[in-house]
Amino acid sequence: MRNSALKSLSFALFIACGTALPQIAAAASPEPVKAERGMVVTAQHLASDVGVEVLKKGGNAVDAAVAVGYALAVVYPTAGNIGGGGFMTIRFKDGRTTFLDFRERAPLAATKTMYQDDKGDLVKGLSTNGYLAVGVPGPVAGFEFARSRYGTRPLKELIEPAITLAREGFQLEQGDVDTFDGRTERLAKDPAAAEIFLKAGKPFELGDKLIQADLAASLSSIAEKGPDAFYKGAIADAIVKASAEKGGILSKKDFEQYQVRELEPVKCNYRGYDIVSSPPPSSGGVIICEILNILEGYPLSYLGYGSAETVHAMIEAMRHAYVDRNTALGDPDFVDNPVAKLTDKAYAKEIRDKIDPFRAGVSEALKPEGFGESKETTHYSIIDDEGNAVAVTYTLNGSFGAGVVAPGTGILLNNEMDDFTAKPGAPNLYGLVQGEANAIAPRKTPLSSMSPTIISKDGKPFMVIGSPGGARIITITLEAILNVIDHGMNIQEAVDAPRLHHQWLPDKVFMEPYALSPDTLKLLSAMGHDVEIDKNWTIWGQATGILVGGESLAEIAEGGGARYNGAADSRIGAGAARGY
Ligand code: DON
Repeated sequence: MRNSALKSLSFALFIACGTALPQIAAAASPEPVKAERGMVVTAQHLASDVGVEVLKKGGNAVDAAVAVGYALAVVYPTAGNIGGGGFMTIRFKDGRTTFLDFRERAPLAATKTMYQDDKGDLVKGLSTNGYLAVGVPGPVAGFEFARSRYGTRPLKELIEPAITLAREGFQLEQGDVDTFDGRTERLAKDPAAAEIFLKAGKPFELGDKLIQADLAASLSSIAEKGPDAFYKGAIADAIVKASAEKGGILSKKDFEQYQVRELEPVKCNYRGYDIVSSPPPSSGGVIICEILNILEGYPLSYLGYGSAETVHAMIEAMRHAYVDRNTALGDPDFVDNPVAKLTDKAYAKEIRDKIDPFRAGVSEALKPEGFGESKETTHYSIIDDEGNAVAVTYTLNGSFGAGVVAPGTGILLNNEMDDFTAKPGAPNLYGLVQGEANAIAPRKTPLSSMSPTIISKDGKPFMVIGSPGGARIITITLEAILNVIDHGMNIQEAVDAPRLHHQWLPDKVFMEPYALSPDTLKLLSAMGHDVEIDKNWTIWGQATGILVGGESLAEIAEGGGARYNGAADSRIGAGAARGY
């Protein structure tokens, strides 16, 4: 067994060396952006500018996060939004942490089988297109919750840049135009969406200006009246009316009773680093912690970035953790989530003991008894001069959400209902095969993978990270963490490095082009792994990260690095890290 020989050799060397020597993996990436007082990294450069301006004027990271949230709703309509939902993880300068859940809720009239026909078969497109796909949106309530409790600036001031960008418009660069790619047919189906996001029925081109007058008016009324303008006033009325006319089930009561939840984040420790991330109704933090706990038992740094042994350990950890994700987790108001068990190091050891170091596992064999019988999202990372850090991931789910805008509002609506289990055992938009814990129920929030994550070391902020990418958000965020902590990459290299993903079912390793060499692929295939190259770049996410104290662990150790080091994934054309 060639691989077994390799494995023993690696372990022997590891034991001989005593400690893991970080192997510096040299990726080809631009330099991270450096700054001393504040850093904002988002998927659209104008939104990053808005955030930095707030920081420069003395606003804190939460103020900047609110302003960026509204700005992205204008300049990044594929995912930035006020008609969707999201999560905010905050780590305050004194080390306290909190988590805000402003994700969508199922309408009161939602039912468990609403996307199935009389025979129990799923009706294609029902949970992804049009008003029946829409969950009750949360960002306006979420941003105000964050600002009023933890911000320092008035709402009007924070929303003003977004209003100006919507009213006066902004010129589209190539990265902006790319986000409209392939969406024409979908947007054309809804006259109100087509009117704003298409140019006489055709896609926008480089240099065109995107003006959103209705959105500017909606934002102005929110600036004047606060969240009531959205949840109790004309905006809710317009959305409910359009929904009723077009086969949806949203009611005024759904809007009136929407509430933000403030929750304890999920916490774990990986090789001495304190990880703080999203709790249920996200699976993100729990599953990142579960995978990290499993991987802690392998000398990844020594085994090396991209080696067959490292990749095998990662895949098997992902396979086991995604079984838990897809079967055990759901909205905490509806199901008991076994968070303590799944994030326990002893549980991770049990899983490690089941992993054959030389053979790929079989996903079908891990299926719990009875199971299955019955562009886009965006992440931004911010840190201020005082050291307050904020990580936000929010989404419309699919690119441009449900592809609908209630006439007169300018607000794109989500298709987040697709994140529920529409039918146990049937894959959703991201191929996730999920169970009863995530079944649809009125007021319930669908299980998410969004993972806004903040890491600290010795009581000081160390890294802010997160990404879009559907079910892959978890592994994208995880891999950025491993790339920094185990493989010594700088923050830009860490978010740019090609990625791998396994989500239990389908039983396949998805690989971004060039992630593994042909030699490594041969080794993995000999172990029984079925590796598929996935060229659909939109699904591989766009991470945005900040590293504190240096651009990499090596620079931090030398003590000579910039205070803040920002990196927008090179996969995002319009994104930028901006500091001051
Ligand atoms: O909450 C979730 O897990 C999904 N709705 C996220 C969707 C997403 O990341 C789409 N972007 N690629």
